[in-house]
Amino acid sequence: MEHMARKPLIAGNWKMNETIGEAVVLAQEISNEMEPDWLDAVAVAVCPPFTDLKPVYTVFEFDKLRVGVGAQNVYWEPSGAYTGEISIPMISAIGCAYCIVGHSERRQYFGETNEDVNRKVQALLADRTHPIDPIVCVGESLSVRESGDYITFVDAQVRAAFAGIDADVARAAIVAYEPIWAIGTGRTATPEQAQEVCSAIRETLGALFGQDVADEMRILYGGSMNEGNADLLLGQPDIDGGLIGGASLKASSFVQIVKAAL
Ligand code: PGA
Repeated sequence: MEHMARKPLIAGNWKMNETIGEAVVLAQEISNEMEPDWLDAVAVAVCPPFTDLKPVYTVFEFDKLRVGVGAQNVYWEPSGAYTGEISIPMISAIGCAYCIVGHSERRQYFGETNEDVNRKVQALLADRTHPIDPIVCVGESLSVRESGDYITFVDAQVRAAFAGIDADVARAAIVAYEPIWAIGTGRTATPEQAQEVCSAIRETLGALFGQDVADEMRILYGGSMNEGNADLLLGQPDIDGGLIGGASLKASSFVQIVKAAL
């Protein structure tokens, strides 16, 4: 289901799951169940843990299947004394085409702030010779949803994530709207709820970068998306794909969601 010129993106967020052997098996199952020509109509990526990036990349490379690989996080400095961190040149050398930034779990459990998210987005967009497209996650908690102020909240997150970024480079970025109350809960947003916020995000992007750029940028929905609800969510005019957690760990479910995006 294509919207104007925007090619949908289905990205799997494996979170902290799969040891190296398990990751290779899952990637191989995904590869086996996918038809190469689907990738003309839909972009597909998986984001495994750092330790699985290279082996997963190699599975798709060996099969000559254009499934992209993405990291789940990155640090903004290129190298140096930052024990435990991973840099953009490191994930770039592995062949990453995407990097999730500012996932709500990183904000919630690891103290990531809007400022950290902005630095990561800036650093990723600065290098366009080995492009890694940021998947910038935003989304409100249940209490913000219930307060009714969720549009204002998400608008502020988007503005903070893209502060100081030029329209020219911003077009490579992807935004993922992931309401926290829908993540891993089985309580997905309705297509109307998801569309309302994704459309508001596009308005914010339009105000920041101009309508042309906003119309080019992909906005994904994430939060309990599965093979049963993907079709209706992906059918919304401002939803250009999905960021899939739980359902991306089962090859058949993930591939069904990819099919729903065709
Ligand atoms: P979920 O996770 O699909 O398991 O709800 C989505 C995400 O957190 O990216």
